[in-house]
Amino acid sequence: MMKILTKNFGVPDSHLLKVARANGAYSSLGKLFAMKPEDAVQEVKKSGLRGRGGAGFPTGTKWGFVPKGTGKPVYLVVNADESEPGTFKDRAIIEKDPHLLIEGILIASHAIGADTVYVYFRGEYYRQWERFLSALKEAKEARIVGERPFIHAHRGAGAYICGEETALLNSIEGYRGVPRIRPPFPAVSGLFGCPTIINNVETLASLPYIIREGGEAYAKIGTEKSRGTKLISVCGHVNRPGVYEIELGMSIARFLAEHAGGTPEERALKAVVPGGSSVPVMTAAEALGGCLSYEGCEKAGSMLGSGGMIVMDESACMVRCLADIAKFYHHESCGQCTPCREGCGWIKKICERLEAGEGREGDLELMLAVADNMQGKTICVFADALAMPVKSFVTKFKDEFEEHIRFGRCPR
Ligand SMILES: Cc1cc2nc3c(=O)[nH]c(=O)nc-3n(C[C@H](O)[C@H](O)[C@H](O)COP(=O)(O)O)c2cc1C
Ligand code: SF4
Repeated sequence: MMKILTKNFGVPDSHLLKVARANGAYSSLGKLFAMKPEDAVQEVKKSGLRGRGGAGFPTGTKWGFVPKGTGKPVYLVVNADESEPGTFKDRAIIEKDPHLLIEGILIASHAIGADTVYVYFRGEYYRQWERFLSALKEAKEARIVGERPFIHAHRGAGAYICGEETALLNSIEGYRGVPRIRPPFPAVSGLFGCPTIINNVETLASLPYIIREGGEAYAKIGTEKSRGTKLISVCGHVNRPGVYEIELGMSIARFLAEHAGGTPEERALKAVVPGGSSVPVMTAAEALGGCLSYEGCEKAGSMLGSGGMIVMDESACMVRCLADIAKFYHHESCGQCTPCREGCGWIKKICERLEAGEGREGDLELMLAVADNMQGKTICVFADALAMPVKSFVTKFKDEFEEHIRFGRCPR
């Protein structure tokens, strides 16, 4: 199995510079600094790398949107907020191989011409923040990182919405962390009104391989539309929860058997959320027939998202699962848009009454109507991130929701 992101994970003290260097850290920099920035962008375009933060937007194409000759500084912002339920892969990179991330930051800064970098850490990631700071100190002392780019490590206060890129920018600027209306897009007018590229930790950690081995070598891994490797964090009803690196295109069935170790006591699989809580749920049949690639997950009725997989076996109550998701989104909505602020509250209330055995006739239709009124009608896609799970849970597991109303209790 090709290991690009996790090759140092099992190595003792892999976070220390001397160990990381002995395992190849910073070996792409000689080649990088001999390249013109536009050639580095070209190499990343050739690799076919897509952003690993959730949306899967091609990284090289995004870098190409930075306008030239504006006279304004260009910023690189690293999204280490990672608050999506079920997603815990970026923190593994920061903890186990912080120098891989720093090397990726140096590559991206060179390519887009950024003199200043902000790394935005989820508030709760104190340990990861400390580990990053000590790795940065070591890299500075070894003169791998110089005066430019200047790297700030910024800690958020712990809000899911601050992972949304424009809310994150507001938070860095000292404002409330709420999403901005686009356009303008951050590549043109982002941090402090200047061109800004925001990239996920895993996206940046994929860059050293691409520069060292070449974009074409990276593009040979994976599928036509999903190049390279991807970290999948898996939790829920599995025997071996954890973070695994896969070649994109691997079947979900194989992933569950070989990496996740199957379900406890071999109970039957009921459902899989492949890409973090905000993507549609898959039935067992969809999951077992699907694969872990952007197009494979779409074909199987969901999305690859951030690669945060949540597995549910036959003992799970789908109403309870959706109620938990709705509670989270209701708590985390920033409240700027009425369909999101009110919709999250309505969905949460309906789920709670279904769970308590107080569901009413028409509740399922009401949930679907509320979800319809949320999706695609707000400033950011947070509202869609609840609407999509609602629609998929209620339609794919309709019998279970109806039973809660009919029996006046959870039948499980
Ligand atoms: C509500 C919400 C939360 C998000 N949280 C994160 C996050 O924690 N980490 C992340 O990298 N991207 C997150 N994103 C996606 C970012 O807005 C952005 O697309 C991403 O950081 C871009 O990096 P990439 O192109 O390297 O994937 C979130 C988006 C939304 C709508
Ligand atoms: S969709 Fe929700 S989270 Fe996003 S801006 Fe509107 S209210 Fe805030």
